[in-house]
Amino acid sequence: MRRFVVIGQKAFMSNEVRLDDLPGTSGRLDVLVRCTRAALLVSHGVRRDVVVYLVLLGEGPRVLRIDGASAKFLRPDERSLATLFKKALAVETTAAAVGFVEARPGISIARGGLDVVLADTGSSRLFILEETATDAREIGDVVAPDVTFFVGDHLGFDPGVRKQLQDAGARAVSIGPLSVHSEDAIAVLSNELDRRSWSGQPDER
Ligand SMILES: C[S@@+](CC[C@H](N)C(=O)[O-])C[C@H]1O[C@@H](n2cnc3c(N)ncnc32)[C@H](O)[C@@H]1O
Repeated sequence: MRRFVVIGQKAFMSNEVRLDDLPGTSGRLDVLVRCTRAALLVSHGVRRDVVVYLVLLGEGPRVLRIDGASAKFLRPDERSLATLFKKALAVETTAAAVGFVEARPGISIARGGLDVVLADTGSSRLFILEETATDAREIGDVVAPDVTFFVGDHLGFDPGVRKQLQDAGARAVSIGPLSVHSEDAIAVLSNELDRRSWSGQPDER
């Protein structure tokens, strides 16, 4: 399984968030939405072996988990995806709820931040996408069977988040010499992993 965790430092969802002005009203949730598309959607299909976590640190915080194995109604345009996420995040979870609660098919929400994600990733190998790190092409186990990649938003990583990930054992990995947009970093890395782990058999879509 391949997992991508996108940390939205200011991202939030509320009734005040406007789908026609996502960048201006949601703490840049638009970045997280585009990351979801890059991680999960291919031409005419969904990557069934990919799970995406969107960490919304601009509120509660909460985490939205989208599981490619069971998610439905994932469309490639930003507005449709944002609408789906808005509906999922409108589902009330009780303060007592622990862990993820399914809000839509394959889409779950949890109260909490990185702790909730790290509990859910179990023994997965952890990597943090950083511009200045060792190139992914020089790291053999980025193609291990269960890997988790943490990605910053337009603001990158807060030092506290970076330390929490390092303490959890995450290793830094780069996808090239230039700092690119978050969704592009995911697309480039996915392509690299596809090339190195491709079995010659297309997934069933
Ligand atoms: C637009 S960049 C963050 C830029 C932010 N201004 C900063 O200085 O940290 C968004 C995220 O994409 C990922 N990223 C961008 N370029 C990368 C690269 N060359 N290698 C690895 N990750 C990259 C990182 O996770 C980064 O936090």
